[in-house]
Amino acid sequence: MSAAPHAGQAAQPATFAFDAANLDRARAIIARYPAGRQASAVLPLLDIAQRQAGNWLPRAAMDYVAGMLDMAPIRVYEVATFYSMFNLQPVGAWFFQICTTTPCWLRGSDKVVEACQRKLGIGIGETTADGKFTLKEVECLGACVNAPIIQVNDDFYEDLDGPSTEKLIDELAAGRVPPRGSAIGRQKSAPEGGPQVLKAMPPRYEWTLEPPPAPPAGSDD
Ligand code: FES
Repeated sequence: MSAAPHAGQAAQPATFAFDAANLDRARAIIARYPAGRQASAVLPLLDIAQRQAGNWLPRAAMDYVAGMLDMAPIRVYEVATFYSMFNLQPVGAWFFQICTTTPCWLRGSDKVVEACQRKLGIGIGETTADGKFTLKEVECLGACVNAPIIQVNDDFYEDLDGPSTEKLIDELAAGRVPPRGSAIGRQKSAPEGGPQVLKAMPPRYEWTLEPPPAPPAGSDD
């Protein structure tokens, strides 16, 4: 459930419409559904709208999607306010979603949060004055094996601690985007230090199809 407050009237653009590329994209998605069921396309269309609007959903964009899908605007608002991936107010260019659920917490997410707040001088739910960074605390991001995690826009930064989090912020502030993934060089979700089992592929199991045995002499088969 999204706890994000809505942007005030002053921040809301008066109108919204898909650009040509997104209009094509939206029409292709709507065409996947049977006639009369176009409301099923609401989630992907809201995602497209959010990306076009700069990673947040103005009310005009939700109204536009409602009109396109022949839905009552309130039904689109219900969807947009339920799912936490939709931002109902502007966010910074680098949107940090910091997981603090139990596995990330056990692995040090408190230090990650502290590093973000100290380095950026803002709290959770706030955006830096230059509009570059926003901090948000979120529930499990589904990458617990590599905890603790920050999702930065669409990418995961994993196995973080205080210093690696500060380094990530420094790089982004300097206009460099570090490689996503593990900060400690973990191979995908393998144990630290590399795989401990199945280090080599097992030999290929060779098999052949034998013809069935011939029936005993005199049988009816
Ligand atoms: S608890 Fe943080 S990714 Fe699952």
